[in-house]
Amino acid sequence: MFKTRITELLKIKYPIMQGGMQHLGVPELAAAVSNAGGLGTMNATIYPTIPEFRDAIRKAKSLTKNPFCVNVSMLPTLSPGELTPEYFKVIVEEGVAVVETAGRDPKDFVPLLKAAGIKLIHKVAAVKYAKKAEAAGADIVTIVGLECAGHPGMDDVTTMILGNKVARTVKIPVLIGGGIADGAGMVAALALGGDGVVMGTRFVATEECIVHPSFKKWIVDSSENDTILIQRSIRNMIRAMKNDAARKCLELENQGVGLPELLTVISGKKSKASQLDGDLSGGIFAVGQATGLINDIKPAKQVIDDVISEAETVMNRLNAFQQ
Ligand SMILES: Cc1cc2nc3c(=O)[nH]c(=O)nc-3n(C[C@H](O)[C@H](O)[C@H](O)COP(=O)(O)O)c2cc1C
Repeated sequence: MFKTRITELLKIKYPIMQGGMQHLGVPELAAAVSNAGGLGTMNATIYPTIPEFRDAIRKAKSLTKNPFCVNVSMLPTLSPGELTPEYFKVIVEEGVAVVETAGRDPKDFVPLLKAAGIKLIHKVAAVKYAKKAEAAGADIVTIVGLECAGHPGMDDVTTMILGNKVARTVKIPVLIGGGIADGAGMVAALALGGDGVVMGTRFVATEECIVHPSFKKWIVDSSENDTILIQRSIRNMIRAMKNDAARKCLELENQGVGLPELLTVISGKKSKASQLDGDLSGGIFAVGQATGLINDIKPAKQVIDDVISEAETVMNRLNAFQQ
């Protein structure tokens, strides 16, 4: 069940992708998701040097024989030293099956990926950018709505609207994300016209995720009201855990300060340190409103198996309405 254009195109068992996660998208998590029949993703930008990045890809290849994805986030860089072109070179050399890009138009890298037979998923947060992704030659477009962890765009439009509209607007397969954490969410995304789902927050609360256990526990204990939108003033909005660091960021934004001052609170270094040390208040932690739907920490395989069996139950319930 649940064969879609995504499972066909990517040669995976289930139309479920684990989206890229800065600091956390490591080979072990990506491989666990791919081994379970989904599409796992590791993040290029975790690795500060090209040899480390290449080693990480090789590690993922040693852990799974199934297709996995490498995320290359091309968001406005908050630190100098852009490695993007080199990341793509290594991706091609190592024969990675799938790439997820986000943040900037990927068109410059499309010919390289096409020539190597690598499938490109471009993630966007607005209908106009979904059209642009299709025109640029992306094989799949991911649309995320306001509920999502990380970057929901600047327009405050929810997954319910964006998923539906993008699926009606582009011809290429569509992944829908933002607030999806269970089988009901998956069926809803397919009902909107999607060919599959992307989940981030749900995969943070897994045994394989390297975030400090205190963050996983926080996800289980927190509700849909415990996230906050920050960084609107620098047009790089993100949804994050409502903690001291995020409140401080918002306070500074309300005072009208610029990027240098904001960076004292939002720097990637601080986020990474807090996520690995378990300091719940010290850094920005991207997390979505799906926190309200997550009640347990379990292996990634269990997440996928549960989503599929819940989705089958939901389908049966819906089918029963027709009698
Ligand atoms: C901790 C965390 C870090 C993330 N970092 C990135 C990233 O570096 N690049 C990216 O494209 N998306 C990133 N995302 C977004 C996810 O790939 C995915 O689009 C999003 O989590 C989907 O929404 P959901 O959290 O409601 O499932 C991140 C998500 C989380 C939870």
